[in-house]
Amino acid sequence: MSAVPAIAFQGVRKVFRGKPVLQGVDLAIEVGETFTILGGSGSGKSVCLKHMIGLLEADAGEIRVDGRDVTHLGERGWVEERKRFGMVFQSAALFDSLSVYENVAYPIREHRLDEEARIRERVRQCLDAVGLAGVESLQPSELSGGMRKRVGVARAIALEPAIILYDEPTTGLDPANSRRIGRLIQKLQADLGVTSVVVTHDMELCHAVSDRLALLRDGRIVVEGSAASFRETEHPEMRDFLEGTSDPLPPAIASTQGPAGV
Ligand SMILES: Nc1ncnc2c1ncn2[C@@H]1O[C@H](COP(=O)(O)OP(=O)(O)OP(=O)(O)O)[C@@H](O)[C@H]1O
Ligand SMILES: [Mg+2]
Repeated sequence: MSAVPAIAFQGVRKVFRGKPVLQGVDLAIEVGETFTILGGSGSGKSVCLKHMIGLLEADAGEIRVDGRDVTHLGERGWVEERKRFGMVFQSAALFDSLSVYENVAYPIREHRLDEEARIRERVRQCLDAVGLAGVESLQPSELSGGMRKRVGVARAIALEPAIILYDEPTTGLDPANSRRIGRLIQKLQADLGVTSVVVTHDMELCHAVSDRLALLRDGRIVVEGSAASFRETEHPEMRDFLEGTSDPLPPAIASTQGPAGV
């Protein structure tokens, strides 16, 4: 374990229109590990990731990247800082009007003044890394969901990031494609030594890739530990998240009182 975490949150708070979403989040993600954030829908997982790359600014608390305080870096400072990050957005978020080639080349064009030949070579390498060699000329609309996600990963690694953030990288994918994404996350960590932060509801992915994981609930990290320890230990909060024991279906659904004629 390195002395300085890749990403550290201390008491991070975020309120949207009077609604507290993060209520004192503490996290320390070590260099080179794959760290998974679990939590119910709307618990603030995507909001957490967006704080890590300065797309949202904390109302209180402190955020450090490789020991540097980035809490109030501002947009201009983040332009430089963000080069160290790759982000795979929840919806794949490809530019539909651009070809696969232009999608993957986009961050390179945005951040570096490279010759076209070098950009072409880098795009080829990135598509190769995600198992999609030769699809440069396709439009996003011509891709399957799994291919779109993988192009999203190719774009995220274009600038050789030290840290990759994955927001629900397997949502909407079939089991084979989900496993392929899991293997890709492991391969990028092994080959490039990147630090990975994964947000997911997919417990198979979680078990396949995580070194450590954390559960976000009521605006705080309520459980954090090695992935192995969760398989062996009984955590009431974790069991509750997995089995939904504190959130039973309303009785109307189970009884005959549903809406008439439906
Ligand atoms: N930019 C924003 N402005 C206002 N409210 C926001 C904003 N971003 C997120 N929220 C709110 O913050 C809460 C947490 O949202 P977030 O997207 O982080 O949830 P999540 O845990 O990623 O959920 P899911 O698993 O469904 O993706 C939600 O109530 C959401 O409406
Ligand atoms: Mg989300």
